[in-house]
Amino acid sequence: MTTADFVVVANRLPVDRVTGPGGDSWRRSPGGLVTALEQVMKKVDGAWVGWPGRADLDVEPFDFDGTLLVPVKLSSDDLENYYEGFSNDTIWPLYHDVIAAPRYRRVWWDSYVRVNRRFAEAAAAAAADGATVWVQDYQLQLVPRMLRELRPDLTIGYFHHIPFPAYGLYSQLPWRRQVIDGLLGADVIGFQRVADAGNFARAVRRIHHYTTKASGITIPLQDGGHRIALAKAFPISIDADGYIELAERPDIQARAAEIRESLGNPKKILLGVDRLDYTKGIRHRMKAFGELLEDGRVEVGDVTLVQVASPSRERVQAYAQLRDEIELTVGRINGQFDTMTNTAIRYLHQSYPREEMVALFLAADVMLVTALRDGMNLVAKEYVATRLDNRGVLVLSEFAGAADELASAVRINPHDIDGMKDAIVRAIDMPAAEQGRRMRALRRKVLENDVARWTRDNLDALDVARQAKLREQAS
Ligand code: G6P
Repeated sequence: MTTADFVVVANRLPVDRVTGPGGDSWRRSPGGLVTALEQVMKKVDGAWVGWPGRADLDVEPFDFDGTLLVPVKLSSDDLENYYEGFSNDTIWPLYHDVIAAPRYRRVWWDSYVRVNRRFAEAAAAAAADGATVWVQDYQLQLVPRMLRELRPDLTIGYFHHIPFPAYGLYSQLPWRRQVIDGLLGADVIGFQRVADAGNFARAVRRIHHYTTKASGITIPLQDGGHRIALAKAFPISIDADGYIELAERPDIQARAAEIRESLGNPKKILLGVDRLDYTKGIRHRMKAFGELLEDGRVEVGDVTLVQVASPSRERVQAYAQLRDEIELTVGRINGQFDTMTNTAIRYLHQSYPREEMVALFLAADVMLVTALRDGMNLVAKEYVATRLDNRGVLVLSEFAGAADELASAVRINPHDIDGMKDAIVRAIDMPAAEQGRRMRALRRKVLENDVARWTRDNLDALDVARQAKLREQAS
C-alpha cells in the first residue's frame, strides 16, 4: 500500500456511501471536521483512516479527491459494543457530566480495545516513515499509545472534540488509567476549552503523579529519561467565509423569506438546531417556551419556535427515550396553543443540507443554544457568521464550549428555567441597536478565529513536536 506523510484517523471516513440508480458511490460528508481538513488534505500527501459508515462493509483503500481513504471494517457486533456501547453509552454520557447515566460494561470495553487496535494498525500501515498522524475524538482514545508502540518514529496528535470531565466524575471510569495512558501516547493532546485541558492534566496528576507545568506533561520513560506531551486548548471553529458566501446568495435569502412566509410571518422566529441528543437541552428549552406561552408572555402567531432535531444514534436507548419525551412535549404544547393558521413549535426530526440551514439562520431572529454540556457547539458560530446585517440574538448556554469565546451572547444557565424564560423574552424584545452591538462583537470573534486558524494552530504544534523529535534522534 502507498503511504502518506499526514494521516488523519477518525471514527468516520470523510465520505458517505450513497446508493443511486447507477449503483453505490461515495459523496463527501457534510461534517465540520471534514470541512476543516479539506484544504489541508488538498495540500499534503494525505490519508484518512476511518469507518465507511455501514456495518460489515469491506472496502479496499481508494483515492477520493487526492486523499487516500483507508476504510476500517466494523461488524454489527463492533457497532453495538464499540460504537453504540462504549463510545456512546459509556464515554459520551460520562464526559458530558453524567446528564444520562453512563453504563460500564466489560464486553463493551473489550470491544473498544479491539477496535481501537484495528484503527491503530491501519494508521501504522498507512503512515510513511516519520509521518504525522492526527487522531480524532473520544471513540479512539487508545489509539495514540497503541500507535506509538507500533511506530515510535511517528509524531502523534490527538484532538478531543467533546468535554473532558472533572476528576470527580472521570474517576468513575473502571478503565480510567488505561484511557489516560492511551491519550498520553500523543505528543500533542488538544481540547476545546482551557478547562478541559485542566481537567485532563488533573486526572494525569491524580492517577500517575506526573508533573504538569503550563501545558506540558512530563512523562517518565523506561530508560530513565522523559518526554513532554502538550495538553492544550485549541477551540474548534467553522469555515466562516463559506457561511458568509452562502448567506450572501440571493436564492438562499429568498428561501429565508419563504420560510418566514410559510410560518405565517410571525413577528419573531426562534430557532434551535441540534442533533437529537440529551446533552443539547432541547427539553429544557421547550419547557421554557411552553411556560412562556402558558404565562401569556409570548403569543402564538407573534412568535414561533422552529426546532430542527437531526436523527442521531437511534439504537442507543437514551436517545430513543429522549425522542419520545421531546415528541410528547411538542405534541402537548402544539395541541394546546396552535391555531388553524399558526403553530407554536415547528418540529423537524430531519437533517438538511447546508444551504437550507443557512436560510433558516437568516430567517431566525433568535438562536437558542441551550446545551446542558457541549464540547464547543458550532451551530452558535454558524448562526453568528451568517448574520451579515448584524441583527439577531444568540442565546447561549454557559455550558457550551463556545461560551468561552462568545461573551457578547445572552448567556443562560439552562437548568434555571425562569432565568432562561427571561433571557428568551429579553432576546425577543431586544432593541436593534443592542442587537447590533452584540452581534458585531460576536462576528469579530468568529471571523478572526475560523477553522483555518484552528487547523493551523494544531498543525503548528505538531510541527514543533516533530522538530523536537528529529533533534532528539540526531543527538
Ligand atoms: C459529535 C462528536 C463526533 C461525532 C458527531 C456525530 O460531534 O464529537 O465525533 O462524529 O458527534 O455523531 P456520530 O455518532 O453520528 O458520529
